[in-house]
Amino acid sequence: MNDSYLKFVNSPFGARLARSLGLPKPEVLRRYRADRPEFEGLVAIGAGREPRLLDALANLIASIGVTSVAHESAGLWVPLANRHGLMTGRFEPAESGSQGKLAALLFDASGIEDSSQLAPLHGFFHDTLRSLGRCGRIVVLGRPPEACASPRQWTAQRALEGFTRSLGKEARRGITANLVYVAQGAEGSVEATLRFFLSPRSAYVSGQVVRIDTGGATAPTSSAFDWSQPLAGRRAVVTGAARGIGASIASVLAAEGAHVIGIDIPSARDALDATMRQLNGTALAFDIAAPEAPAQIAAALDEQGVDIVVHNAGITKDKTIAKVAEAAWQSVIDINLSAQERIDDALLAAGILRDGGRIVGVSSISGIAGNLGQTNYAASKAGVIGRVQSMAPQLRARGITINAVAPGFIETQMTAKIPLTLREAGRRMNSMSQGGQPVDVAQTIAWLAHPGAAGVTGQVVRVCGQSLIGA
Ligand SMILES: NC(=O)c1ccc[n+]([C@@H]2O[C@H](COP(=O)([O-])OP(=O)(O)OC[C@H]3O[C@@H](n4cnc5c(N)ncnc54)[C@H](O)[C@@H]3O)[C@@H](O)[C@H]2O)c1
Repeated sequence: MNDSYLKFVNSPFGARLARSLGLPKPEVLRRYRADRPEFEGLVAIGAGREPRLLDALANLIASIGVTSVAHESAGLWVPLANRHGLMTGRFEPAESGSQGKLAALLFDASGIEDSSQLAPLHGFFHDTLRSLGRCGRIVVLGRPPEACASPRQWTAQRALEGFTRSLGKEARRGITANLVYVAQGAEGSVEATLRFFLSPRSAYVSGQVVRIDTGGATAPTSSAFDWSQPLAGRRAVVTGAARGIGASIASVLAAEGAHVIGIDIPSARDALDATMRQLNGTALAFDIAAPEAPAQIAAALDEQGVDIVVHNAGITKDKTIAKVAEAAWQSVIDINLSAQERIDDALLAAGILRDGGRIVGVSSISGIAGNLGQTNYAASKAGVIGRVQSMAPQLRARGITINAVAPGFIETQMTAKIPLTLREAGRRMNSMSQGGQPVDVAQTIAWLAHPGAAGVTGQVVRVCGQSLIGA
């Protein structure tokens, strides 16, 4: 679906008019394109006291091939970068004309143990934020508060959350800001996640907090891994793959090397066939909520098994609780939630989902915040969150991760049905002042499906441009 306001204010005439009337001017977000370099430009490094993740960052910078500059808060960076053979210099505080010179800001806060040690956050971002270019990236790294040894350390690490989320709201210009908590011992497993947050692939993901744990299989190391085809040799099932977000998920996973098995209802068979033909995938026409569907899906996948399961199929039947009929209420729960549980149970019990596998459920910000007229939908989507949180510890022993993405307003046929005024509100009420695209959800799922995301499990990542709803 088209966002005509976004197009208009980014035309020469529209931009002039918006400026003179003081109207908001959403940025045209830079998204991943296979024919453009994924990483380029200068990355500024800052740090708090005794940073523990600089080695991991040096490996990352070497792997993605960008140039770094050290802020005065990160005194250790220059000798360390030299040891890694990286080109590096010192960051000169912002002068007029320096706007846009930086592509990303990375701050290692892992050594901060007390609220009195937070000042370097101010020093670094105060000096550098104005030099960050449009669609720039901010990543703050810390330690998971709940694993901290003392209440003071927990408190200081938890403070990073409010700080980073506020940066996301202040930065504007299509800039994203996210916080990554790295558990002790997981320093070697950060690359896939940091690549995602530094890449144009995360264009509509901002204000998020992600934890990288030590569990699961060992993440690939950069020298021995083909980062352009991370899913090569893997098989991925995507439900609701005929159109919208599901078709985009199928296409992104296939572009990353996976063989995709797309599932959709029999009445969407033609669209499903067309999508799967383009991707050299396999089409399965099933109603996932039918009682026999889990067994039928398991039988269809049995011979070769599967590595990635994406539960994307979903419906809305919006009416307030006083007006919605029982059958309509129930069908939303059945398709959006119970079907996910029943399919997973069938695939896990028979060992069809292989060890080291990935499950991703599609939730919604309605499941976090609740929404008028959506008691059924919000219950189903909150249930998806409960499911990943409850299943993650159980699946850890098999190296299987289970996570949810919670999209905000995404431009699809589902949101095209929303009345115009509500639709405009949904689009603008976020830090990007625009709706996301199906590919934004798809890229987030591809990161969670990545072999290098083995330490990311039981989490909910919102793809909502930092929506005010449920924030
Ligand atoms: N579009 C948004 O803004 C948004 C926001 C939050 C969450 N979501 C979620 O993202 C997912 C995809 O949404 P979308 O906007 O692409 O919707 P969509 O309606 O465009 O596509 C949904 C697909 O699921 C299929 N499907 C529905 N019931 C099915 C069943 N019983 N068995 C098999 N397939 C079935 C449909 O045929 C369709 O192809 C949904 O789970 C939705 O709740 C969307």
